[in-house]
Amino acid sequence: MTRIQSPRGTFDVLPEDAARRELLEGHAKRVLGAAGYRRIETPAFEATELFARGVGQATDIVQKEMYTFSDAGGRSLTLRPEGTAPVCRAYIEHGMHKLPQPVKLWYLSSFFRAEAPQKGRYRQFWQVGAEAIGSAEPETDAELIVLLSELLEAIGVRARLRLSSLGTPETRTEYREELRAFLRAELTLTGELELNPLRAFDRADPATRAVMERAPRLLDRLAPEDAEHFAEVQRLLDGAGVPYEIDSTLVRGLDYYTRTVFEFTSDELGAQSGVGGGGRYDRLIEQLEGPPTAACGWAAGVERMLLAAGELPTAPPVVDLFVALAEPEAAPQGFQLARKARQAGLQTQLELSRRSLKGQLKHADRLGARYVAIVAGARAASLKEMESGEQQELDPDQVIPSILRGSRLA
Ligand code: HAM
Repeated sequence: MTRIQSPRGTFDVLPEDAARRELLEGHAKRVLGAAGYRRIETPAFEATELFARGVGQATDIVQKEMYTFSDAGGRSLTLRPEGTAPVCRAYIEHGMHKLPQPVKLWYLSSFFRAEAPQKGRYRQFWQVGAEAIGSAEPETDAELIVLLSELLEAIGVRARLRLSSLGTPETRTEYREELRAFLRAELTLTGELELNPLRAFDRADPATRAVMERAPRLLDRLAPEDAEHFAEVQRLLDGAGVPYEIDSTLVRGLDYYTRTVFEFTSDELGAQSGVGGGGRYDRLIEQLEGPPTAACGWAAGVERMLLAAGELPTAPPVVDLFVALAEPEAAPQGFQLARKARQAGLQTQLELSRRSLKGQLKHADRLGARYVAIVAGARAASLKEMESGEQQELDPDQVIPSILRGSRLA
């Protein structure tokens, strides 16, 4: 029989990784909580239709990357590839439009995409995300961008911010026609560019690049109110001292965006340079049969943020007390002492492997325990302070008060 291994493109979060992730979670909670964002968690799977309609039938995500399955009742379900459509589904389902607007929500959840795995790209990955639903104002876009930039700064990720505006779907349709006509006159169009002429901006060959230098830009075609919205977002970011580059070629892999789009990229990541991104999605709630509701948000990959962050100052776990057993018969007394010590607020570990006393002391030392109580039975114990090596005999009932008296916890 072959040994069973974790599926390709997935990974285990080991205890040593968990500490860095908890630190990141703490920063997300602090930065987003301070701005009034409240946590939401939606199910790991949803009706497939939600993503087909929400993310867009023509996107790579819906076309190629979803884990879709049928349940016993023949319903098509999909492991969530992203969090915005589910959060909008929850907003509609729970009548959140009746709450004071905007409703500001954040999440830290795992997502699933059947992509080719590589560094920074996995099939199950985690995102911190934030969504502000029910505000059309440019302050919301700018505030969200500032919050992501603060989160990245808090964990020491240096990233470039690219910014653009996609205007409305109607402007985009007209622009796509204009670009297609321009490209037809300049190049022989292949099927892909005929279908999606915007892809020509990603081409690396010098001839196409030269043509694209002269191509019309969507940013120059925005309707006046969309252009004004974009200008105001920039003014707010300037005022906040957040540097950005306008990148008129910025396209995101999801169809729901309108107006502002942005992406933070880091050079530490190689090919998968996108640390986090998002934008405005003023039509999505309506597309999902909710009331017309403007909204904006972002998501940032936890693994990519941690890859780009490098060292993070995580403290090793504290062990105040290790309860050692002088002989196996003392186990019930040791068990009780460990339990009471934890109730008294001490981080306490009990000997669970029947090691020799010498082995137990060595183990306690390796754990970095500050005290070791050696329990010899109902009436006898000794307490050793590991740093000084001092040891005193005492009644088992005196172990906890004695530590509390001598410790910073007292
Ligand atoms: P996204 O750009 O598809 O946007 O994903 C956001 C972030 O998730 C990426 O920048 C990246 O860090 C991380 N990510 C995506 N795919 C993978 C993967 N296969 N492995 C590891 N990390 C990955 C969204 O998902 C939108 N829902 C963002 C949003 C929220 N827009 C508005 N609100």
